[in-house]
Amino acid sequence: MEFKIAINIVAFILCVLGSFLTVSADAVTPPTHNYTVTQNDVTCVVLNGGFQLVIPYTSNSKNYTTTVSVSNITTVNGTCDRNVNVLNIYFYKNWKLSFIFINTTVDHYSIGSINLTYGMTTSQFKNLSTTQVGQMITQSSDLPQNTSTGPFGGSYLCSGETTLSLNAGITLKIYNIQYRAFGKTKSGAFSQKNIENCLLSTPVPDMNTAAAVIVGIALGSMMVVVIVLYVIISKARGL
Ligand SMILES: *[C@@H]1O[C@H](CO)[C@@H](O)[C@H](O)[C@H]1NC(C)=O
Ligand SMILES: *[C@@H]1O[C@H](CO)[C@@H](O)[C@H](O)[C@H]1NC(C)=O
Ligand SMILES: *[C@@H]1O[C@H](CO)[C@@H](O)[C@H](O)[C@H]1NC(C)=O
Ligand SMILES: *[C@@H]1O[C@H](CO)[C@@H](O)[C@H](O)[C@H]1NC(C)=O
Ligand SMILES: *[C@@H]1O[C@H](CO)[C@@H](O)[C@H](O)[C@H]1NC(C)=O
Ligand SMILES: *[C@@H]1O[C@H](CO)[C@@H](O)[C@H](O)[C@H]1NC(C)=O
Ligand SMILES: *[C@@H]1O[C@H](CO)[C@@H](O)[C@H](O)[C@H]1NC(C)=O
Ligand SMILES: *[C@@H]1O[C@H](CO)[C@@H](O)[C@H](O)[C@H]1NC(C)=O
Repeated sequence: MEFKIAINIVAFILCVLGSFLTVSADAVTPPTHNYTVTQNDVTCVVLNGGFQLVIPYTSNSKNYTTTVSVSNITTVNGTCDRNVNVLNIYFYKNWKLSFIFINTTVDHYSIGSINLTYGMTTSQFKNLSTTQVGQMITQSSDLPQNTSTGPFGGSYLCSGETTLSLNAGITLKIYNIQYRAFGKTKSGAFSQKNIENCLLSTPVPDMNTAAAVIVGIALGSMMVVVIVLYVIISKARGL
């Protein structure tokens, strides 16, 4: 009798645990990548993060948006000039996302502009009119000078999700970003010192952390239930 109750309670907890894990697995955050630009043995740009583009478009006088993760990366390259560092990310067949880092003050840099080139493909854009299929579009968006500034010799860090508004209503969603530009070392490791955090972020724990917390809570409550049941059953049996 007591044993049956115990089994039922444990099964219930496993069920709850299972449903949490399914929810977390369904949540889509784009994959995080480590992008580097090295020239003459100096790694000037290191950028770690996940990106997603939300692109509005019109077809047959109807408005749509498509959401595309930066994945299926083919090439990463760029340039390390004295006043401008560029990171180019080539992905899908012919898409290109470029981050152009500029020197904003004597001791800080920031993302000065973002260039995006994308192709109107039927796999990413639903219900395209035939004239649009295959069109290539390039948008160059200048960002406010105070966006995401990092210190020379250090890095900029923003945990969780942030967004940047680009031209033509395009939104760049950014997940767990850390970057440095104008780096002077061969190594692409971030310095542990001199990290500037974003101010406004609403840190979202990444899914692994969230899942680990949920599993921890579920396992913890299961142990408590088992211990309590053991005590109750032992007492009932007069052990
Ligand atoms: C589509 O978007 C354009 C520009 O954002 C807007 O002017 C227009 O009213 C929208 N059309 C529809 C059908 O919602
Ligand atoms: C991305 O790559 C995966 C595996 O290589 C492939 O199945 C998928 O079709 C690719 N997606 C695009 C949009 O190219
Ligand atoms: C980066 O790679 C692309 C595609 O392979 C190439 O066309 C381009 O010239 C390269 N740019 C630099 C700066 O190396
Ligand atoms: C940043 O700009 C200032 C002024 O233009 C210049 O003196 C300095 O050398 C630049 N620093 C870097 C790392 O490019
Ligand atoms: C595409 O158009 C068809 C008919 O014109 C419509 O039924 C369908 O819902 C549209 N798809 C999207 C994603 O809007
Ligand atoms: C970005 O776009 C601007 C405007 O089209 C262009 O002048 C610049 O060379 C581009 N930069 C890169 C790195 O693609
Ligand atoms: C950046 O500057 C703009 C315009 O000067 C201002 O509206 C905005 O609040 C500033 N953002 C930050 C994060 O300081
Ligand atoms: C990114 O890659 C560089 C070069 O391979 C490496 O030195 C660095 O540790 C990596 N950073 C992260 C956060 O993975």
